[in-house]
Amino acid sequence: MEKILLNGELVNRKIAIDIEDRGYQFGDGVYEVIGVYNNIAFKLEEHLERLFESAEKINMDIELTIKQLKEKVLKLKKENLLKDGLIYVQVTRGITRRNHAYLDNKIKPNLIAYVLHQNRLPSEVYQNGVPVILTKDIRWLRCDIKSLNLLPNVLAKQNAIEKGAFEAILYRNDNITITEGSSTNVFVIKDKTIYTHPANNYILNGITRQIILDICIKLNLKVQEIEFSKSFLLNADEVFISGTYIDIVPVSRVLGEDVEFTNQKSITFKLMKELNKLTMSI
Ligand code: PDD
Repeated sequence: MEKILLNGELVNRKIAIDIEDRGYQFGDGVYEVIGVYNNIAFKLEEHLERLFESAEKINMDIELTIKQLKEKVLKLKKENLLKDGLIYVQVTRGITRRNHAYLDNKIKPNLIAYVLHQNRLPSEVYQNGVPVILTKDIRWLRCDIKSLNLLPNVLAKQNAIEKGAFEAILYRNDNITITEGSSTNVFVIKDKTIYTHPANNYILNGITRQIILDICIKLNLKVQEIEFSKSFLLNADEVFISGTYIDIVPVSRVLGEDVEFTNQKSITFKLMKELNKLTMSI
């Protein structure tokens, strides 16, 4: 029987969620997704740190230390014999009589974690890249918080899949600035320089994104964390997306646009190779 982590205890998966859990009613909570490669939870501590940061940003107190949560998450992974896949951790503000405001500051947060056994993407995806669509970023202005409110992301991803794309790359402002993907960060490469949106309130500062930036320093590659436009992306030499467990996925083309990045992935491949070394050697 699959076990989940519920407020510190490992219990059977079949549990009831209270209707008035604020995560369920308002999306009032935060979450993390951690990749497990060959039995190792990759960058677990970094993910948990970001979980605590997200919680703090919405004035929510996780009643555990990072160290305590780390131990419990590792126990969950072990109990479920998770070798390759994902660990999902979410904390909601807890259960209270429905009201938009959380009047009672003493509501007990609900922490739930469970595992998803999952294979990596097929190797052709990494070799050939994936098609994407460009779509308007209709999210709120605190995308740095890994909030449970994912409706705009859900709609964007669904739109992408229905059109035969792998990901929706989002643009905002005066309809031109590329922010990130619906569940990934976006990088473009032009004249050997790597561009990605600055880590501010418009994007989630991906753990994978941060590792990639470290790799760029190590490889002496030029990086610009600046805003760039849709047309800059369409004229780039290489484009890739990044995220937990998918790591780095090259973009092959943008649907509806007369542009292909098929034959130019040399820097992307270099970064993929370095990231692979990290995930495989941990
Ligand atoms: N998503 N941007 C957004 C909006 C994301 O949801 C994610 C991750 C990322 C990449 O972050 P990281 O490298 O830390 O995974 C960027 C996870 C995987 C999800 O929601 O399933």
